[in-house]
Amino acid sequence: MNISTRAINLIWPVVRIVALLSATVVGCSSNESAKAGDGGSGSGGLSSPPPASGAGGRPSGASAGSAGVIVGAAGAAAGGGFAGSMGGSLAGSGGLASMNGGSGGAGALGNGGRSDGGAAGSLIGAAGQSGSAGTSGDPTKAGPPMGWASWNTFAAKIDYNVIKGQADAMVSSGLKAAGYQYVNIDEGWWQGTRDSAGNITIDQSEWPGGMKAIADYIHSLGLKAGLYTDAGKDGCGYYFPTGRPAAPGSGSEGHYDQDFLAFSQWGFDFVKVDWCGGDKEKLDAQTAYKGIASAIDKATKQTGRPMALSVCNWGVQSPWNWAPALSTMWRTSYDIIYYGENADMKRVLANFDSAQHPTAQSPGHYNDPDMLIVGMTGFSGAQNRTHLSLWAIAGAPLLAGNNLATMNADTKSVLTNAELIAIDQDPLAKQGVRISDDQGKQVYNKVLSGNARRAVLLLNRSTSAGSITVRFSDVGLGAAASVRNVWAAQDLGSQMTSYSATVPAQDSVLLLLTGT
Ligand code: GLA
Repeated sequence: MNISTRAINLIWPVVRIVALLSATVVGCSSNESAKAGDGGSGSGGLSSPPPASGAGGRPSGASAGSAGVIVGAAGAAAGGGFAGSMGGSLAGSGGLASMNGGSGGAGALGNGGRSDGGAAGSLIGAAGQSGSAGTSGDPTKAGPPMGWASWNTFAAKIDYNVIKGQADAMVSSGLKAAGYQYVNIDEGWWQGTRDSAGNITIDQSEWPGGMKAIADYIHSLGLKAGLYTDAGKDGCGYYFPTGRPAAPGSGSEGHYDQDFLAFSQWGFDFVKVDWCGGDKEKLDAQTAYKGIASAIDKATKQTGRPMALSVCNWGVQSPWNWAPALSTMWRTSYDIIYYGENADMKRVLANFDSAQHPTAQSPGHYNDPDMLIVGMTGFSGAQNRTHLSLWAIAGAPLLAGNNLATMNADTKSVLTNAELIAIDQDPLAKQGVRISDDQGKQVYNKVLSGNARRAVLLLNRSTSAGSITVRFSDVGLGAAASVRNVWAAQDLGSQMTSYSATVPAQDSVLLLLTGT
């Protein structure tokens, strides 16, 4: 174990305890506080090795999926799977992008699926009005999930009204129209209680109508609903309670079939499965998540509702080697920030680097560098753009973590930038890779669908501004290419051989290149 991993292992529990102390703890008794402390400092630390660098082999069985086609380079967002998962259509007034999703329906999961989705969507224009998103679509082939998750802003301090407020804001802010669709409820919804038959029980004062009611509400907005549990017996809310009392029993171990069937029956389309209990119990991650994926398959067969699985074991036990065959996305590192921390570019870059497993990624299966911290305290507009550029170049899931109800106009426009989203959602689902590094002045290249199209990120990690050059031959293009600056929305004309830009320290320039 190297020093930085040891530091993380030591720091994580401490940070979470600090977060606990500074958070508004709901009804925390002294007994529960003591338990939290024991879990954190005594035995709750992460003990597994860090994610190794280098790409793992792509497991057989990972689906290649059928790619959609986007016509019109400057058209709007979305990949084939995304189109396939949208029951409606989008119509607006920007450039033309037509898509043949070709991947809709739940047939790949073996049950024929629901009838309200699966048809390929069509999308005209970048600023289109959204039709209603279907509740089906095949997560094994869809684009990287886009949505919002509750953890970064609210920690465990969530209830029906918090989630409803964010779902409403996803629509009113324009995020839904831009392609965001999942509203993901993270830790805090369940305190580990079960009835005598082992069914999860919910505090009705916080979740009137149970979890089905909030899933129904999310669906009524044309969005999809996500939920959260742990692979072990006790979840992170027991070992590192943040905003609520320690919750023993808040994991699904011993109840996989029962819990995932319940989630599906309640209407959830996505489930993130954390690893605090699994890690503490030293479970074999591949075995545990295989059991979970199989429980989800069984649930889907019964309810007809496909459910995307998000493996959240922080990159321990090399999930890029086995999770692509089981899941939609798998975390490749520890948390991008811990609750209460400010956004920090070093952490963004570290998580981006840890997620580099290009051969593991394919349509419907994504390395997950963690939820976004775009728009959170500590980041400037430029930092928000660099963060999103990194995730888009990686083809990573885009799960916003900021408060959607209070975000400012700049954050909104960054999150909804159609060209950025189109790069992220490109149907080839390639992970962009680094092709050069001159003392921290780096070039990343992502091959896009269509004819000779590349997204290129000029990233300056150094402490001084400097010129960064992309040579067209290095990204597999010929002598000439037309160059567009994505964030400036500026065509820079046809260039010969290469393109150079001056990039400020710790900043980036995102380009779209089209070869001739
Ligand atoms: C872990 C996960 C986070 C979040 C919290 C909830 O730290 O990595 O993304 O879900 O647990 O406790």
